[in-house]
Amino acid sequence: MAQLIAQLDIFSLDAELSQQSPQKILQRALSQFDNIAISFSGAEDVVLIDMAHKINPNIKVFSLDTGRLHAETYQFIDRVRKHYGITIDIMYPDAIRLQEMVSAKGLFSFYEDGHQECCGIRKVEPLRRKLSTLDAWITGQRKDQNPSTRASVPIVQVDTAFSTDDRPLVKFNPIANWTSADVWMYIRSYEVPYNSLHEKGFVSIGCEPCTRATLPNQHEREGRWWWEEATKKECGLHAINPNQTV
Ligand code: ADX
Ligand code: SF4
Repeated sequence: MAQLIAQLDIFSLDAELSQQSPQKILQRALSQFDNIAISFSGAEDVVLIDMAHKINPNIKVFSLDTGRLHAETYQFIDRVRKHYGITIDIMYPDAIRLQEMVSAKGLFSFYEDGHQECCGIRKVEPLRRKLSTLDAWITGQRKDQNPSTRASVPIVQVDTAFSTDDRPLVKFNPIANWTSADVWMYIRSYEVPYNSLHEKGFVSIGCEPCTRATLPNQHEREGRWWWEEATKKECGLHAINPNQTV
């Protein structure tokens, strides 16, 4: 019931915010929720930190360290931490589950039997652990990132994939309606620090073994899990999005 009521409220909030700027959306999210954090991947979603930090310098941020990120991404996450003077909570996978998988299947099992199991252990379980401590989270998802699965990402939603029975979790996607060009215009205009991998042809950035640079005019998602179909190019963090075969 609590969830149903929250869902209804959230629908009207989404309608209210859907034409607003990301800054206005963040302002509303941060005034509505104290226990809210940005989920920072170490890529273009740095724009959220820049915007939120201007509203509240004590903004909470967390990152999921899968153990397989690029060296450049680790360096960037730390650079962002120092640049904004913020704490970034780094979440780690469960060591026993990880060890069991790697002992049984090696370090590159995702090329053979798909990325779901590895993403489940390295990303989704640590995310679930983190989200169980929050009332709301903020992501850098955009509609243009994956036409198969993200075309209808709303500005705000109840995240039924990570809500618990007694506590609905709210998810904000303030740049859902922005394009990649909008993001880069912001980065350049406000001199926001960015991941140096972007200078090497990387657009969408995830784990090192599952991310590659893209050619001009190739869709950015083609640089992620390139051996899998478009509907499988999601790791489970955004399980609430439609059309996924995760
Ligand atoms: S993914 O699900 O395919 O990996 P993507 O790289 O497009 O996601 O990023 C979309 C949003 O998901 C990011 O802006 C961020 O909010 C969240 N996200 C993805 N990877 C991470 C990560 N390693 N740590 C924290 N948040 C992440
Ligand atoms: Fe594992 Fe690749 Fe998923 Fe990273 S993106 S958690 S390395 S399968």
